[in-house]
Amino acid sequence: MVKLLSVFACQSCGAIHSKWSGRCDACGAWNTLVEEVESGGPAATRPKPTARKGRGVEFHTLAGSTAPLPRIKTGLAELDRVCGGGIVPGSALLIGGDPGIGKSTLLLQAAARMALGGAKITYISGEESIDQVRERAGRLGIAEAQVALAAETSLGPILDALKREKPDFVVLDSIQTLWSDALSAAPGTVAQVRACAQELTRFAKKYNSAVALVGHVTKDGQIAGPRVVEHMVDSVLYFEGERGHQFRILRGVKNRFGPTDEIGVFEMSDAGLREVANPSALFLDGREDAATGSAVFAGLEGSRPVLTEIQALVAPAAFGTPRRAVVGLDSGRLAMIIAVLETRCGLSFGGKDVYLNVAGGLKITEPAADLAVAAALISSALDCPLPAQSAVFGEIALSGDIRAVSRTPARIKEATKMGLTHALVPGAGKTEDFARESDCTIAKMTKLSDLVSLIDATGSAPMRE
Ligand code: TYD
Ligand code: MG
Repeated sequence: MVKLLSVFACQSCGAIHSKWSGRCDACGAWNTLVEEVESGGPAATRPKPTARKGRGVEFHTLAGSTAPLPRIKTGLAELDRVCGGGIVPGSALLIGGDPGIGKSTLLLQAAARMALGGAKITYISGEESIDQVRERAGRLGIAEAQVALAAETSLGPILDALKREKPDFVVLDSIQTLWSDALSAAPGTVAQVRACAQELTRFAKKYNSAVALVGHVTKDGQIAGPRVVEHMVDSVLYFEGERGHQFRILRGVKNRFGPTDEIGVFEMSDAGLREVANPSALFLDGREDAATGSAVFAGLEGSRPVLTEIQALVAPAAFGTPRRAVVGLDSGRLAMIIAVLETRCGLSFGGKDVYLNVAGGLKITEPAADLAVAAALISSALDCPLPAQSAVFGEIALSGDIRAVSRTPARIKEATKMGLTHALVPGAGKTEDFARESDCTIAKMTKLSDLVSLIDATGSAPMRE
């Protein structure tokens, strides 16, 4: 007799519990446990033990000849770079992002480009009807591309069709709409998402078809439920951006076939996503030189140097506890920089509201941004602009020392390329060699107080307390 085993799976982290409770012990989320009935229990999904008498495991050496991985170019250079140089046949890819950010648009454009390049492409939409996808393809001007389109959500027929068609690349939009009739759970639940993703990755490996799964993200930034999918697939890419801004950033967070810290920058227009080959120009667009509270940060996004404007506003607090609001940067990092400025440089932010914004909506995680954040804060607090046309980077230690950061030459080169003529950099790094080559005036800072003196000297009305 088939034994029915019921377990409770957390819809947020995928943890399995034997009994229901209001809160998941593993991730702490409330009201996320959902009952799942598995016929035959876990034993049914376990592979059957086989007799392996006499079969030994063969060992190899690390050295040996390996062919370079074949790659299918998507025709979108930004996407190719994030994937590590193109999509690897037989790999599974997860593209996560907020609903409406442009995941379907990106994949439809990539699919069309690949089809025009001669690859066999299938696009399966579980969210939109054939007409909706066609209408979008028409708007994007790619309706002529030979993409096999289907609107389907049931995994069984999808797999049958894919095994028959054997496409080079298949898009499944989205993993949350797929369902397998082997499970009683509703589509979008962890059990369904996990089962569908597992079947599709298995298909990818067996038939050497690259599979792209689209996944929607929950409000707290996790891919809804299918965190479990992340370790099943070969690459995880996030598509992010601010609602009010035109541009979108594709970020690699996991990649078995390339680096993970690369970003691809796109701009959403009425004719779809456009690649942005020079992100610095986009992020610095509209910047006013010699404005107070503004600093240009020469940062690194993966292998690419990218310039961004950091804006700060230090304003008298109306009442009560002063506000600290920050967009695009870790608020803990801001608190630390404010504390160092107060203790080591004698500036006072008590009784003042501090607002910090990374212009354009980019999210910066590099500690090298510390000096640029400090420069923007000092500039706003003292009401003095930074030296004209300057780029800033460096890490701040709690002692108030400025630490060297990686790839100083690349950062300065990007700044000069964008027409900046000054660089405020950590004192410790070697800068002489490239300073001579790139006519950029370099000001070295060893202490944070050096930066305060420098900005103070450019203005005339210091308001230090
Ligand atoms: P979409 O790709 O449907 O998002 P997702 O699949 O991530 O949910 O993107 C939809 C948004 O993009 C929608 O708000 C409209 C906008 N958009 C444009 O601005 N221009 C375009 O050419 C297209 C196709 C979409
Ligand atoms: Mg979509």
